[in-house]
Amino acid sequence: MINTDIEKLYEKANKHLWQDLSDADNESRPQIAVDGEGAWSIDIDGKKYFEATSVHSCLNLGYGQQELIEAATEQMKKLAYFTPAKLQVPAVELAAKLSELFQGDYTTFFSTSGSEANEVALKIARQYHIQTGNPGKYKFISHYNGYHGGTLGIQGVSSTPVFKSDFPGMTAPGFIHVLPPYDYRPPFGQQTESTEQSVAKHIEKVIQLEGPETVAGIFIEPVLFAGGCIIPSPEYLQLIFDICKKYNILLIVDEVVTGFGKTGKWFGFMHSEGVQPDIITTAKGLASAYIPLAATSVSEKIYSTFNRKGNRFKHFSTMGPHPVGCAVALKSIEIIEREQLVTKVAQLSQTVLSKLHELKSFNIVGDVRGIGFLYGIELVNDKQTKEPLSDETMSKIASACEDKGLHFAMDDNAIRLNPPLVSTEEDLRFLVDTLATVLNKFNK
Ligand SMILES: Cc1ncc(COP(=O)(O)O)c(C=O)c1O
Repeated sequence: MINTDIEKLYEKANKHLWQDLSDADNESRPQIAVDGEGAWSIDIDGKKYFEATSVHSCLNLGYGQQELIEAATEQMKKLAYFTPAKLQVPAVELAAKLSELFQGDYTTFFSTSGSEANEVALKIARQYHIQTGNPGKYKFISHYNGYHGGTLGIQGVSSTPVFKSDFPGMTAPGFIHVLPPYDYRPPFGQQTESTEQSVAKHIEKVIQLEGPETVAGIFIEPVLFAGGCIIPSPEYLQLIFDICKKYNILLIVDEVVTGFGKTGKWFGFMHSEGVQPDIITTAKGLASAYIPLAATSVSEKIYSTFNRKGNRFKHFSTMGPHPVGCAVALKSIEIIEREQLVTKVAQLSQTVLSKLHELKSFNIVGDVRGIGFLYGIELVNDKQTKEPLSDETMSKIASACEDKGLHFAMDDNAIRLNPPLVSTEEDLRFLVDTLATVLNKFNK
């Protein structure tokens, strides 16, 4: 494109396109992406960027996956859309495949985004308790630093500082937040027990004080990714699972970011032996973001109470089990299985990404934490006080990396990494080396 056309595009964008996550200042000149290859996006000038956070944790299989394109095309030719109230083959097959991958007996309700999948989880949990004789159970517990979506119901469960909602009178009652098991900044100070144990004990106390007969569910992200990539030990989910069983509270595991291999296992909850969630939500990488698709999968214990006359679930999603989305998701899962990408993630995490821990030798790097392909690097002004690095310096670091062709997500003082499953060893070395070079420049 010639320069005048690019200028016109920016003019049109500033006037007509509502960009997410940006202040409309008419000055911004974000990247205009036009193409992609594997884990790299390509801008309008032909410059390539390694997408080290898979573009919002979405592009599991990267760009240009011919098989996904063919799966979509074939399905569009055959049956482009059908009613969620009847059956079509891709939705049935995908629901059965998800149950197999979850290693349990799950039934799935499809929708179109992570927010909707979690809205659906809220409504299923609420309706489940009503129809099993516990109508007083309406409260949900979740973590500060957690993010589960931005629509009106689920925004009450979310609590990352960046997305903190401020819509007075528009949030439903009954959302309780507790501090996360954040080992680098332990919520209750240094204790003899683990951070996970002290937070789990606190959650049990909160349930007792609120009244167990009022608590419907606990929302958990196996890794609190948007809130700084906080990674609890596997023990944490086991402790929460036991608490849920003790008080008849549903364990709702949000695998929107952690699903489909990103942690080195198929799902984040699988690191915690013996844990079988009541509800699992997935989105983003489910169809590798080639098409929007999300899923709320519930255990047999829950579904059996809906599968009766008069107990129909009171929710409908027109585009939910979209046949094209389901066909692409099935193909995406087939590729992950065939190419053994989950094992590859675990291996490359050990051999390449673990080198990120060496960045801790820099004065500005307070903490490096990682599991599989999910990594968080927390930057500080002072290692002793752990004072966060300023927003200004964080932005300068992001710009310096962008100049070198590296994109990642950043919230407050944490760099958040989550590269595509298809990243090559060379791609990951580029990521580690570029970060080391740039952070070295900003080191004091
Ligand atoms: C863990 C988690 N759950 C849910 C969501 C919401 O997904 P969506 O933006 O597709 O509504 C997000 C989005 O970042 C997320 O990180």
